[in-house]
Amino acid sequence: MTGKSILLNRIPALFRKKRGAPATAGSWLVRVAMLSVLTAAPAMARSSSSPFAFHNNLMPEPARLEVGQGYFLLLPGLTATTDKFHNARLDHAIARAMRQLKEQTGVVVATKVKHGASNGAAFVVSVDGPGAAVQTVIADESYQLEVTSQGIHLHAPAVAGALAGLQTLLQLVQNNGTEYFLPGVSIQDHPRFPWRGLMIDCSRHFIPISKIKQIINGMAAVKLNVLHWHLSDDQGFRIQSKVFPLLTKDGSGGKFYTQQQAKEIVAYAHARGIRVVPEFDVPGHTSSWVVGYPQLASAKGPFHIQDRFGVFNPVLDPARKSTYQFLNKFIGEMVKIFPGPYFNIGGDEVNGVEWRENPRIQAFMRKRHLKNSAALQAYFNRRLLKIVTSYHKRMIGWDEVLVPGLPKSVTIQSWRGYKSLAKAARQGHDGILSSGYYLDHMTRASKYYEVDPVPEGSTLTPDEKKRILGGEACMWSEYVDGTTVDSRIWPRAAAIAERLWSPRSVNNVNDMYRRLHVESLRLASLGLTQISQEWSSLRQMAGAGQLGPLRVLAKTMEPVSWNQRARHANEYKITTHDPLDHWVDALRPDPPFRHDFKLMVARYLQAPRREQASGMKLTKLFEQWIAAEPGVMKMMEHAPLLAQARARPGQLAQLGRIGVAAVSYLSSGEAAPQGWKQKQLAVIDAAAKPVALTQFDVLGPLKRMVESVPENSGG
Ligand code: ACM
Repeated sequence: MTGKSILLNRIPALFRKKRGAPATAGSWLVRVAMLSVLTAAPAMARSSSSPFAFHNNLMPEPARLEVGQGYFLLLPGLTATTDKFHNARLDHAIARAMRQLKEQTGVVVATKVKHGASNGAAFVVSVDGPGAAVQTVIADESYQLEVTSQGIHLHAPAVAGALAGLQTLLQLVQNNGTEYFLPGVSIQDHPRFPWRGLMIDCSRHFIPISKIKQIINGMAAVKLNVLHWHLSDDQGFRIQSKVFPLLTKDGSGGKFYTQQQAKEIVAYAHARGIRVVPEFDVPGHTSSWVVGYPQLASAKGPFHIQDRFGVFNPVLDPARKSTYQFLNKFIGEMVKIFPGPYFNIGGDEVNGVEWRENPRIQAFMRKRHLKNSAALQAYFNRRLLKIVTSYHKRMIGWDEVLVPGLPKSVTIQSWRGYKSLAKAARQGHDGILSSGYYLDHMTRASKYYEVDPVPEGSTLTPDEKKRILGGEACMWSEYVDGTTVDSRIWPRAAAIAERLWSPRSVNNVNDMYRRLHVESLRLASLGLTQISQEWSSLRQMAGAGQLGPLRVLAKTMEPVSWNQRARHANEYKITTHDPLDHWVDALRPDPPFRHDFKLMVARYLQAPRREQASGMKLTKLFEQWIAAEPGVMKMMEHAPLLAQARARPGQLAQLGRIGVAAVSYLSSGEAAPQGWKQKQLAVIDAAAKPVALTQFDVLGPLKRMVESVPENSGG
């Protein structure tokens, strides 16, 4: 240990006595002066062995970051001072960040913000102005953040940038085992795309307002800035209309947001730099509208809200003036709740059945030379656009609305493939990418990470590229509810958030996963349950008893894809009333262990005879898989909800035995008897079959291990 590090270790101890006592400005100056002397010498903080070295746990990664010298120790009494512009939004955001800092570190920093001259202040927030009162898509979200041993300086041209910078600041906090500090850094940051969204479907399953707020907290943490709120669909109309009260009276099953709650969400999101874009999906996906207002429908009715999933026939009647009058009044009411500049009208998956079967609508089409349902929908969209525009809103629609003649002012949200996004941009439309970002598909974070709204080698012109505003992760809720939704959104949405914020060159998958794990823990500290829900669901299924063995099994498994689940839902007539409390609902998509195991195996296989430590670690792991079987089997005897997965503990034990044997051959260099590989691969293949809508996520690496084992050729 060098003399300097001894000294550094002692300084915090000195301060620790004062933790909890408010620091005066004077005491601050003394401390800062001491620290700056101590850290002025050679780049201590740069050396990776230094306990004060910068560890990059930022997500999304900033556009530009330089690691500086020294560090800023987090001490009681730290106070933020705004030395330029400030308003309530900024003050509240700073106070929130300070509260979070306090809660996460136990260091009693001040949550009251000071205003005025920054002389000697250790944490200065300099914001030039408020930015637009209602956040727009061109909001300036840039900021600079400097951390030195002297203090923290956050500068932003507008409040939106300061909000982003505060999140980075929170992510910078590290500790050296005894004290918390911010490493010396200089960050200049701005987003790559202005539109970084998360769509939440609250119709298939209702998501409570408290959960929406928590999700907004998570969004802010990873710098997502658009909450696309899918508020109506076949299974439920989810926002109160005072003009048309039957929308929720008959169309929601009692589960909806009051206007007051929706306004609260808009304000809550705005305070965190997030715009809310409401979606009212028309003319299809409208069963819930026509239950109470059958006069809007293209068929006779009566109608009911759907309790199954898929595409249904009910569709609004585009051939009646009264439909547009209704929509005009309704949209006029909703724009008072949602002040943002965009309004999403859905427009997806119209099957046209009711239009084709209605002679009046067919006559209407002939009269207007509308050849088919697509042409009729285009007609409907043009009339709808006039209404939306009359309220000074920009209309967004899913990519089905992109047909010849669609006015360029409509923004296209691409979900059926990247092609429609490029096509929209070429035709002069703004576009948002959601294809490839469907969280309900249970895709791995690494796959989302590869999806880029403007991929490398894009043949779009610079102007066309500018029309691509960004992307949105989509959380459709057929198979999630308020209890499970966190584990389906987080942490994978953070990988998408990084793709949309950070430069394209930030694309190292292993490093993304490393930071994603850290981010997931941070998100959990905000109250999001993607980690704890697995535990509580397993506990609920298993009852009393040791959960350990079951958790070993759960770690190695994940839900099947959306397609497989949808097929199952169809076959077994699963409805919105069926509880989401099965083995599949407890498991997390792309669980952290999957990628870790893949890396462990890859490392070992590079040189199995040299990587003895890795081999031993793997053997230990495989032995846990073997040991878990009796415990899980015993538990399953008294856990009906786990019964469907009864094949799994035995399979895991088999996989464990294969692993132990593979390590034994590989580490010793011994050859396996002829036919060994084929036998093991057959076991692995058998385990690949989905059971209870879940699958093992460890099979690929295990297979590679088996394939690497030398085998006697016999003869
Ligand atoms: C959609 O997934 N139907 C937009």
